[in-house]
Amino acid sequence: MPMATGPQRILITGGAGFIGSHTCLVLLEAGRQLVVLDNFSNSSSESLRRVVKLAGGDGADRLLLVEGDIRNPTDLNRAFLALGDQGPIEAVVHFAGLKAVGESVAAPLQYWDVNVVGTLQLLAAMQAHTCRTLVFSSSATVYGMPEQVPIPESAAIQPINPYGKTKAAVEQILADLQASSSLTGEHWRIACLRYFNPVGAHPSGRIGEDPLGVPSNLFPLVSQVASGQREVLHVYGDDWPTADGTGERDFIHVMDLAEGHQAALDHLLAMDPALLTLNLGSGQGHTVLQVVEAYEQASGRSVPSQVVDRRAGDAPRSVADPSAAKHRLGWRCRRSLKEMCRDSWCWQLQNPSGYRLHHS
Ligand code: UD1
Repeated sequence: MPMATGPQRILITGGAGFIGSHTCLVLLEAGRQLVVLDNFSNSSSESLRRVVKLAGGDGADRLLLVEGDIRNPTDLNRAFLALGDQGPIEAVVHFAGLKAVGESVAAPLQYWDVNVVGTLQLLAAMQAHTCRTLVFSSSATVYGMPEQVPIPESAAIQPINPYGKTKAAVEQILADLQASSSLTGEHWRIACLRYFNPVGAHPSGRIGEDPLGVPSNLFPLVSQVASGQREVLHVYGDDWPTADGTGERDFIHVMDLAEGHQAALDHLLAMDPALLTLNLGSGQGHTVLQVVEAYEQASGRSVPSQVVDRRAGDAPRSVADPSAAKHRLGWRCRRSLKEMCRDSWCWQLQNPSGYRLHHS
């Protein structure tokens, strides 16, 4: 990664998680000073230990960990002040949140509390510390059942589950906040990044996705079937209006996604205060069966599958129109499905129990 211009001191909430840890690595490699605020509710500090090792050099000195919760103003204050006289935090990348759709239906209050109240607390702390640059983890889930594919950012926002509704609500809060800039003189620079389906791992296989309990997303399940931890992949329907009848998604390599955050940060700092809402996806769809086939090739293992009923709430197709991110950030996905499968497999082989056994 070339040295980037832009903010040097960045707060990363949820930096120990799947997308957060890969983004921390990319930002460390670009010479940034990071403070990570994480409560490890769905992550492990082991990911950050490996991130600083991968970054090498003085990486360990440039990543400071504050264990705490975004809903707790005291924890937020500690994070904003963590760098002491090195200077103030200049920007925040906000990953912290809950993200399981099924769980959000069962525990909506918890989702509104962590995702929305937590973000409001973060914004209050940003105001108090005069930090007005924010990159927010949104999701393609805000589109619900998309009416057109590829999906442009202008498509209707109609989330169909509490998780998606919390993401849409935060986007609305951020739009209101940015719009207040002209009245308050607080010049907010905000990017809402709508991720499509993040998968894969760092090519070293040292950091990757470590879902808590039984995974519900396709890639972790496929990798567990390939490794023999699980017998069969259930394919949720083969009668969808897609090329082979199975669901079609826009899978994005987590390293491409991490680089997208870096590009968004650089862009925000270089532009006039504004709100930027961008899809981060490849623009290319792959079906469940195409993923299974690509994974079998990458791993050399077989992935037995069995077609079962459709899963409630699934859309047939979800593919990004990624042209706005390319135009605004000069960013696009560079890694193929083959690389996503290869890197996911490399992580799976080296870490069959995720971070739990702390293989070093
Ligand atoms: C899901 C969430 C989405 C969230 C995203 C995070 C739902 C409805 N959507 O997206 O809100 O932002 O995860 O990554 O849960 N599939 C199978 N068998 C499986 C698992 C999945 O066939 O065992 C299929 C699904 O039907 C779908 C595709 O694989 O067609 C991708 O599923 P998944 O990885 O769960 O992602 P999304 O549903 O797109």
